[in-house]
Parts: sequence; C-alpha cells; structure tokens
Amino acid sequence: MIRWFKPVVFLACLGPLGHLAWKAYSGNLGANPIEVITHSTGDWTLTFLLITLAITPVRKLTGQLWLIRYRRMFGLFAFFYVVLHFLTYIWLDKFFDLHAMLADVAKRRFITVGFTGFLLLIPLAATSTTGWIRRLGGKRWQALHRLIYFSAIAGVIHYFWLVKADKHKPLEYGAVLAILLGYRVIVWALPKFRAKRPRTVMRERMEVQQP
Ligand code: HEM
Repeated sequence: MIRWFKPVVFLACLGPLGHLAWKAYSGNLGANPIEVITHSTGDWTLTFLLITLAITPVRKLTGQLWLIRYRRMFGLFAFFYVVLHFLTYIWLDKFFDLHAMLADVAKRRFITVGFTGFLLLIPLAATSTTGWIRRLGGKRWQALHRLIYFSAIAGVIHYFWLVKADKHKPLEYGAVLAILLGYRVIVWALPKFRAKRPRTVMRERMEVQQP
C-alpha cells in the first residue's frame, strides 16, 4: 500500500495548482485573475503549513508512526505554494518593480509580516534533505526547523491584517495553529511539571511529619 500511496499523496498536493491551471486554461479565473491566484496560493501555503505541523501530534496521539514519512513532503509543498504566491506578487502584481516592492514591504505591515514568514521558510526548505540532517546533527537540525512555528504565526498575522471586514477565516486558521502549538507547549512542560511535583509533595509531607 505504502508504495503507491506516496505518489498519490504527491499528486493530491499538486491538485490546487492543477485546479488553478485548469481555471486559467478554461478562462474561469474571473474579473481579477491575479487576486484569485494570490488568494488560492496564500490559502494553500497556510493549509500546508498547518498540515505539516499536525503530523507530529496526530502521529503521537493515534500511534500512526508511518505519518512521519509525509512531513517533509507537506513542508516542501508549503514552500512550493509560498514561492508561487510570492512569484504572483512580484511578477503579475508588481511586474518586478523592485522600488514598488520595497516600498510595499516597508509600508504595508501585512506584506512585511508575510515576507518575514516567507524568509523563515527558505532555510527549512534548503536543509530538508537527509544529508543536511547528518551535517547539522539531529538536535541542531530540529532547533532550526522550529522556525516553521514562527513562519506559521507570521502567516496567520499576515492574513488577519490583510482582511478588512470578515476576520472569520484568519481566526479559524489561528485557532488551529493555537491548538497545534499548544500541544507542543504541553508536551514540553508536562515532564518538567511532573518532575517538580513529587519533590514538592515529599517536602510538604516531611513538614507535616516534623512540625
Ligand atoms: C508564510 C508566508 C505567507 C503565507 C502563509 C501567506 C498567506 C496568505 C493568505 C492566507 C492570503 C489570503 C488568501 C485569501 O484571501 O483567501 C494571502 C494574501 C496575500 N498575500 Fe500572502 N502569505 C505569505 C507570504 C506572502 C508574501 C511573501 C507576500 C508578498 C511579498 C504576500 C502577499 C500577499 C498579497 C498581496 C495578498 C492579497 C492581499 C489582498 O487581497 O489585498 N504573502 N497570503
């Protein structure tokens, strides 16, 4: 099953791009094609970031250890869609006008934070290979790859700041992200809390015994 499942997942991840390409080919991108492409690639970047972040909790809570084999693929698809998102902006929206882009990054705070989220993903994509895990060592590689948390936070803030009226969707993304990061905080804090508790309980017991 595993042998054919991976290519199927890979093709499914290309689905959003295929859908956009089909819409462009059939002339169904609407009155503002650039907006449709920007929104779709932005949405899929955030979706793939959240799917990547969901792999560890789902794997640990369900015992489905094989899921780990898909984490790198989902992370790289997040990067793939943010590159398309960024290209849409610099190519179709700004026509490679560096001056206008720099002014945008400096002036519009949602662009500044989106750009930060994009920059944070570059070292992760560059070091995603097994060779880089070996070169950096597991611990350093893991520490570097925690940048994905900040990229996802930047992505949610970017979305929250750019919508003017209905903040429902960015808030939904934010809620999912809060759950996924909250899980990690609990997993990190629980052993420390447990290690501290018996000592406190022992100290309290001794104080009761020796008033
Ligand atoms: C991790 C990085 C990023 C994520 C997760 C992200 C995500 C998103 C999302 C979810 C949307 C809204 C989609 C919708 O309305 O359905 C969006 C829109 C947009 N993003 Fe990004 N984005 C990122 C980086 C960037 C960068 C680097 C730029 C350009 C420098 C950019 C420029 C834009 C623009 C211009 C819009 C449309 C704004 C509008 O409708 O007025 N984004 N992005």
